[in-house]
Order: sequence, then C-alpha cells, then structure tokens
Amino acid sequence: MNYNNIILESNNFIATIIINRPNKLNALNTETISEINHALSTAEKDKNIRVIIITGAGDKAFIAGADISEFANFDVEKGYDLSLNGHQNLCDFIENLSKPVIAAINGFALGGGLELAMSCHIRLASDNAKMGLPEVSLGVIPGYGGTQRLANLVGKGKALEMISTASMISAEQALNCGLVNDICNQEELILNCEKIASKISRNSPNAISSAIKSINAGFIDGVNGYEVEKKEFGKCFGTSDFKEGTKAFLEKRKPNFRK
Ligand code: COA
Repeated sequence: MNYNNIILESNNFIATIIINRPNKLNALNTETISEINHALSTAEKDKNIRVIIITGAGDKAFIAGADISEFANFDVEKGYDLSLNGHQNLCDFIENLSKPVIAAINGFALGGGLELAMSCHIRLASDNAKMGLPEVSLGVIPGYGGTQRLANLVGKGKALEMISTASMISAEQALNCGLVNDICNQEELILNCEKIASKISRNSPNAISSAIKSINAGFIDGVNGYEVEKKEFGKCFGTSDFKEGTKAFLEKRKPNFRK
C-alpha cells in the first residue's frame, strides 16, 4: 500500500514506521492514524517482523500532537468520536499488539504524540526531546488515553502537574520520572532502538506476545494479572518455541525460533 503520511521500512525482523509530515511537526490527522493502524496490522501479520519502531521524520519532532486544524470546529459528538478513534485504532491498538513497539522520540512529543509514545511498550528519547500534554491550554484534556497512561507511568501527582500546567519536560526530566526508558543523543537514537529490537528479535516471539498480554492484564480493571500470567505461562509449554528454546539450552547452542 502507498501511504501519504508515513513511511514503512523493514529489515532484519524490524519494521520502522516514520511519521512523515515534518512541515506540520508530524501532527496526527485522521488519515495518518489510519495509515499507522494499517502499517501496524501489516507488520503484525508479517512473520518476518518481530519488533516495530515508531519515529518522526526530521530532527525537530516525534509528533507534536493531534492535528489541531482538523478538530478546531468539532462539536461534543465529534469530539467523542475523535477520542474513540484515537483509543481504538491508535493507542489501545499499539498497546495490545502482539509484537513489541518501541517509540524513538526524536524531538517534540506533545499531546497525542506523547499519548502514542506512552502506548508503546518501550520508549527511548533523544536528548533534545521535549514532552508534554498541553491539551488544557486548548480547552480540552488528553483524549487518547493520556490521563490514564501518564498517571500509570509517572504517578498521579506528577501527571496532574504536567497536565494542568500544560508544560513540557526535557528528556532528562522524563528519564528521571520514569516516562522514558533511556535517553541518548539524536544521532544514536535509531541505532540504539535497533540494538534493543535486535535483542528482542532473537527471543521467542510467542513468549514475548504472552509477556505483553500478561503485563497489560495487570493494568485492566477487573482483570487479575496473576491469573492471566498463569494461563499464558501454561500456554507457552504447548509451543514449538518452548521446545526449541529448552532443547537449544540443553544442546548448548543458540535457539533458532521459527519464522
Ligand atoms: N496540529 C496542527 N499543526 C501543527 C501542530 C498540531 N498539533 N503542531 C505544529 N503544527 C504546525 C504549525 O501550525 C506550523 O504549521 P504552518 O507552518 O503551516 O503554520 C508547523 O507545524 C510548525 O510549527 P510551529 O508552531 O511554527 O513551530 P515552533 O517551533 O514555533 O513551535 C511547538 C513548536 C511544538 C511548540 C508548536 O508547534 C506547538 O505548540 N504545537 C502544538 C502542540 C500541541 O498543543 N499539541 C497538542 C494538540 S492536542
């Protein structure tokens, strides 16, 4: 498929999605969201892809939020639908993907851009990155899951401070409060993400998918994460990955997980 707003590349089990609207600081309009969803679905089905990296084109922005020009005239109903689409087709979709998604935050990650990054499984930021949820400065609140995911990542107090002041924090502050896993200089960002992706891609895709399900379960109201873990653990024993992983260990060789 030809995309208008993103670039999808793949190499060595890694798919990279580049949000490609640098003149608009990679702001997310509806078409971009559906293209990201399509690219993720394609990567998820592709047996040659084991990890996905998402980044922004250019050296200024990861994603500077939802496209404000698109929703400035929306009413209550359309506002709700905008949020629903951002939840279902973007952030919940990423969080529940069976393959790990790494956010390579290469500049501004604001509003929906930070919400997208927070729905990724791993976040690395370049040292010039600036992150925030400035929606209240526009008269709205974060609507793609940001009120929940930010509080889960940095705690309720820090989340309320960031959201109500609409301020941005630096990459170093983001690292200190647990919003990102690591920071590095911009030139090394993709390489460092690829190093993590490459380590992941050597492990069992089945087991990684079970780990994502089990960890996510602990954050869903009414779901017992420990119970999900027991079921997923048991299921692993029925997979060819488990047979290969344990066999390889006993034969003192590296496992070769199936494609
Ligand atoms: N939606 C739509 N367009 C956006 C955008 C967004 N979220 N963020 C940036 N842009 C556009 C600007 O309108 C501008 O377009 P133009 O050249 O056609 O006028 C272009 O991207 C460059 O942005 P600009 O504001 O000129 O860059 P800057 O370096 O002066 O400021 C920011 C950078 C990120 C501080 C500023 O663009 C900003 O505050 N963006 C909005 C952030 C936000 O509120 N996001 C949450 C949305 S819910």
